[in-house]
Amino acid sequence: MTSTADRPFRLAVNTGGGDAPGLNAVIRAVVMSALNRGWEVFGIKRGYEGLMDGDGLVPMGVDTVHGLTARGGTILGTTNRGNPLRWPRHLPDGTVEIVDRSGELVEAFRNRNLDALVAIGGDGSLHIAAALSRRGLPVVGVPKTIDNDLAATEVTFGFHTAVQTASDAIDKLHSTAASHSRIMVVELMGRDAGWIALYGGLAGAADVILLPEIPYSMDAVVEHLREKMRRGPSYAIVVVAEGAFPQDGEVTLVEEGSEGAAPRYGGLAERVAAEIAERTDFETRSLVLGHLQRGGQPTAYDRVLSLRFGTAAVELVDQGKFGCMVALDASGLRGVPLADAVARVRTVPLDSDEIRTARKLGICLGD
Ligand code: F6P
Repeated sequence: MTSTADRPFRLAVNTGGGDAPGLNAVIRAVVMSALNRGWEVFGIKRGYEGLMDGDGLVPMGVDTVHGLTARGGTILGTTNRGNPLRWPRHLPDGTVEIVDRSGELVEAFRNRNLDALVAIGGDGSLHIAAALSRRGLPVVGVPKTIDNDLAATEVTFGFHTAVQTASDAIDKLHSTAASHSRIMVVELMGRDAGWIALYGGLAGAADVILLPEIPYSMDAVVEHLREKMRRGPSYAIVVVAEGAFPQDGEVTLVEEGSEGAAPRYGGLAERVAAEIAERTDFETRSLVLGHLQRGGQPTAYDRVLSLRFGTAAVELVDQGKFGCMVALDASGLRGVPLADAVARVRTVPLDSDEIRTARKLGICLGD
């Protein structure tokens, strides 16, 4: 694709929502494959804020992406608060009004003579991209999230690294749990999807894995732990997804969503550890792995996936296939409508072979 005007095609790229390992590798792939086509590339700082503020559009050359494949985080910055569809406007009387600034954003994009956008993001950011696409902005999405919860793609980049970090951490818990004959309860991220907890728990040989997809019974968990402690070795690892909840209760939140931001999950490990301690004589401890799952260098798998996603996104732009997200399935990489990608949260299917594997290994899933 070349520009209609008498100038090179101008591609913008941004990163939105929570960061994930591999973002920088996608940026590098987008920039390099666009530059190799003779295009100009611009990075938008902090999601869409860089365009709204007017000062956050930076030219991207080869030197700006040097060494990025292995680097965690995002050189463009990101935010999970700057949603142009639900922008908090602070009024003089101290109240906050939520306004839709997407029209303004599309106008700012056009005023900067930008021809297309590669939006790298998860559920929230791709919802925004889908809305901007409906407003006429030529956009292609790249699926990012450690949660692996996007419909239409089998895997998102960042997930593999988060699972590796979780599994490494659980490996370390075994020796301390065994030394003290304790029950260690570890909380992993993932919002309403249990992918990180299930993969982390399987790889880390957990005794119990609690997922949002299977509301748990504390009776079942305690019975399983009693049996494990009796049978030996007398220690246990309990993995809880932050979004898991009891059969007769609710998800544990740190903060309700406000001003256009999503609710924050957290606190379940402490709650489960306290309940186990209350109902048994076992000594328990809890920990939250938290943002360690998002930090650090991407695994080699995530680096390669990110590079593939980034180059495929530029390919879609080149073919004029806008309003799409790059997706990976058994047949390889392809473009799927953004609307399909954000239509639902991709949770763990209860009949998946990962769930069956866990059950066959005798892992308690809380039911
Ligand atoms: O969506 C990625 C994620 O890390 C979730 O797993 C987690 O619930 C959330 O983001 C945490 O967000 P924040 O960085 O705002 O605390």
